[in-house]
Amino acid sequence: MDYGSIAGRLDSLQEDGLAAVASAADIVDLEAVEVAYLGRKGELKTVLSGIGQLPAEDRPRVGAVGNRVREALETAIVARRSDLGSVALDSRLAAERIDVTLPGRPLRRGSLHPVIETNREIARIFGQFGFVVYEGPEVETDERNFRALNIPPDHPARDLWDTLYTDLPGYLLRTHTSPGQIHVMQATKPPIRALLPGRCFRYEAVDASHGFEFFQVEGLMVDEGTTMADLRGLLDAFAHAMFGARRATRFRPGYYPFTEPSVAFDVRCVVCDGAGCSACQRTGWMTILGAGMVHPIVLRNGGLDPERYQGFAFGMGSERIAMLRYGIDDIRHFLENDLRFLEQF
Ligand code: PHE
Repeated sequence: MDYGSIAGRLDSLQEDGLAAVASAADIVDLEAVEVAYLGRKGELKTVLSGIGQLPAEDRPRVGAVGNRVREALETAIVARRSDLGSVALDSRLAAERIDVTLPGRPLRRGSLHPVIETNREIARIFGQFGFVVYEGPEVETDERNFRALNIPPDHPARDLWDTLYTDLPGYLLRTHTSPGQIHVMQATKPPIRALLPGRCFRYEAVDASHGFEFFQVEGLMVDEGTTMADLRGLLDAFAHAMFGARRATRFRPGYYPFTEPSVAFDVRCVVCDGAGCSACQRTGWMTILGAGMVHPIVLRNGGLDPERYQGFAFGMGSERIAMLRYGIDDIRHFLENDLRFLEQF
């Protein structure tokens, strides 16, 4: 072993090493080359381990050649690593390119349930007369659902509402939105113009025109000098906005414990326009709501002085109005959640 042969081996090691670096296809390959040539058990270490057998004056020269070879390989590896890195980045950029000029994918949009749509239209119409929407709870007290509305316990008028009671004594599922009248009267001061849409519940057999679960929209107006003529004018305006400007309307006497006098409000049948058909049971008229002047006892229960204030209230079935609006013949459609039905609106 002499200086010449070791130096020769180091030179060819450098040549091989540089070639291996140049042909490394990716970062992983390059790492393997680095380990093979410069690692702790790599080629360079192996060749240089023969240095101990050289005469002392040759050792520094061989060491210098060894350092040159190491530096040459390290420099080549660093350069190759950055080349391979930018190649990898370029190909990722090419593969993941986003064309920002493409039109977006349209989102699938749902639509409002026809009953909710109808409630909104009702609120829009009454909103034009200054009515503000409130909401009351679906679980009500017997007090507000009945007693405060002038329907004492065991009173036969309770038979008008087949009630679903809860396990909690005194609590029930509201049978109508009228308890909202009490909430609003206790919470605000006249002049009151309130609209109360909401879900109601009754213990009833389901058929084409009755659901055990349905929506009502309650209206309440209280002020000094409010009259039944105001009620009539407002309901006419509503019927015209909802069913057309020339739709005939009428009041019929009705009965509710919480209004006096009470009325039923009819519109000329929207199917046959009064000629008589099965939808209006040949009467030519359709009842769309119950209404009346708020009973003095109810005003007092709401914390208002009936000597000073008068008011009217009305309550309409949202499904009923929606059926007339869209020509739907069975109330059960609204609860079945059949998309073939719902997607038509
Ligand atoms: N709450 C009554 C019902 O459910 C309707 C109504 C409301 C009548 C307001 C008069 C006044 O049948």
